[in-house]
Amino acid sequence: TNKIIVAIDGFSSCGKSTIAKQLAVRLGYAYIDSGAMYRAITLYFLRNGVNYNNHDEVVAALNDIHITFVFNEDSKTSDIYLNDEDVSLPIRDMLVADKVSQVAAIKEVRHFAVAQQKRLGRKKGIVMDGRDIGSVVFPDAELKVFMVADPAVRVMRRFKEMHATNPHITIDEVRHNLELRDYIDSTREESPLHQAKDALLLDNSSMTREEQLDKVIGWVKERS
Ligand code: C5P
Repeated sequence: TNKIIVAIDGFSSCGKSTIAKQLAVRLGYAYIDSGAMYRAITLYFLRNGVNYNNHDEVVAALNDIHITFVFNEDSKTSDIYLNDEDVSLPIRDMLVADKVSQVAAIKEVRHFAVAQQKRLGRKKGIVMDGRDIGSVVFPDAELKVFMVADPAVRVMRRFKEMHATNPHITIDEVRHNLELRDYIDSTREESPLHQAKDALLLDNSSMTREEQLDKVIGWVKERS
């Protein structure tokens, strides 16, 4: 069988990364969380007070940003490094989640991230999830999946996940953040979130992880 590229896109908290990680382990492929790159860039902007409405400041900051993914044997997934610091945890903070969609809407930021994402896919054998993977990063991906789930299900999933590290978080805060990000992500000018014409729809509102994985593995087998 040939190694392929699997592109997984969808709204926030549809369970893209969960399925993408498991799929990569099962196939022996690399997994890249493209959203983590936008989060790492946002973290850098926040820490360094970069005014992201100022084009020159954004370009200068991007010149100082170096992002790498390092495979972690224990978690069987990659940690993300921002200029040699492991930022896998701080990028999950609500402070970052609140700003990331605004940062990800900036053209220069997208070009920077997409160029690196394309390089990571050169050897195939990769699962990447995000918002524009099937439409922009890998328009020729052998398999494109577009994930959707009931909004109430998504809010509860993300709430449980965030509550584990931040006991003060409320369901309303999580709902508000998801609605805001979905709105910005799907209405921005630069590569807005949408289902690519050739992407297969996966609605996982009432599917177990195992059912989702079986379904996607079946799609991979048909294409590799
Ligand atoms: O996937 P995650 O929810 O961590 O992504 C965080 C944010 O990064 C998204 O809300 C979106 O604004 C942005 N993003 C993007 N394009 C991608 C992946 C993420 O614009 N391919």
